[in-house]
Amino acid sequence: MEANVPKRKEPSKALRIKVISMGNAEVGKSCIIKRYCEKRFVSKYLATIGIDYGVTKVQVRDREIKVNIFDMAGHPFFYEVRNEFYKDTQGVILVYDVGQKESFDALDTWLAEMKQELGPHGNVDNIVFVVCANKIDCTKHRCVDESEGRLWAESRGFLYFETSAQTGEGINEMFQAFYVSIVDLCENGGKRPPTNSSTSFTKEQADTIRRIRNSKDSWDMLGVKPGASREEVNKAYRKLAVLLHPDKCMAPGSEDAFKAVVNARTALLKSIK
Ligand code: GTP
Ligand code: MG
Repeated sequence: MEANVPKRKEPSKALRIKVISMGNAEVGKSCIIKRYCEKRFVSKYLATIGIDYGVTKVQVRDREIKVNIFDMAGHPFFYEVRNEFYKDTQGVILVYDVGQKESFDALDTWLAEMKQELGPHGNVDNIVFVVCANKIDCTKHRCVDESEGRLWAESRGFLYFETSAQTGEGINEMFQAFYVSIVDLCENGGKRPPTNSSTSFTKEQADTIRRIRNSKDSWDMLGVKPGASREEVNKAYRKLAVLLHPDKCMAPGSEDAFKAVVNARTALLKSIK
């Protein structure tokens, strides 16, 4: 006869997840992971050869998470090694160096490489992405500001953190938010839960701010042809002002974009007889 032993509460099963790091060579991917896992920083550059693999355990709420980290080499030379590792990923740490504009511009290329390797049936909407704007300790060399990075990330529904693997700033907060989002995703049937910020501005607003930042002169900024009339300038200005007014637009960088548009209009009206 079986003894009438009171049932013990089963501990919830450890969740196994796979995360990968992506981004140009030398932006600090390995150092970010090392800072978090080993609490140390190595200033000498040791390029990752192909892939580095590690396992770590973390606790999120009452769940134990077993994290398999695949730290990828950023150098183009290792493409053939990297491309094997994109599939079955729940989280991506996407890194750029705030002092290196090319590494920020390359984020789109990294996403494209991942999408290509996942193929037509791969779905990146079911993956949590965290963008790390790294090396913020190098303030003198910074050329990609926070609003630009945040806009890129949040307009895609990605998390955004400013980090320094050297000082440790932002690293724990970034990993904590990253793992919480992955657990939320797993508990949400594999769908990425919407982030607040991704719903607080539209794609049109994000695209317009980016276009304004990259415009070559005041005509270009207002989206009118050089030599346009006062009416055309005013019409274009009104449209942009409605779209970007800081009272209505919550997108990162909207205030600066709005000011730039006001200044561009003033300059153009002065120059038009
Ligand atoms: P690959 O493996 O080649 O793709 O490079 P990686 O992105 O893994 O770069 P890694 O972590 O090896 O760091 C590259 C260099 O940047 C090293 O010399 C690091 O010491 C330095 N570095 C990384 N993070 C930081 C940081 O936050 N601040 C500063 N000042 N230097 C950093
Ligand atoms: Mg590395």
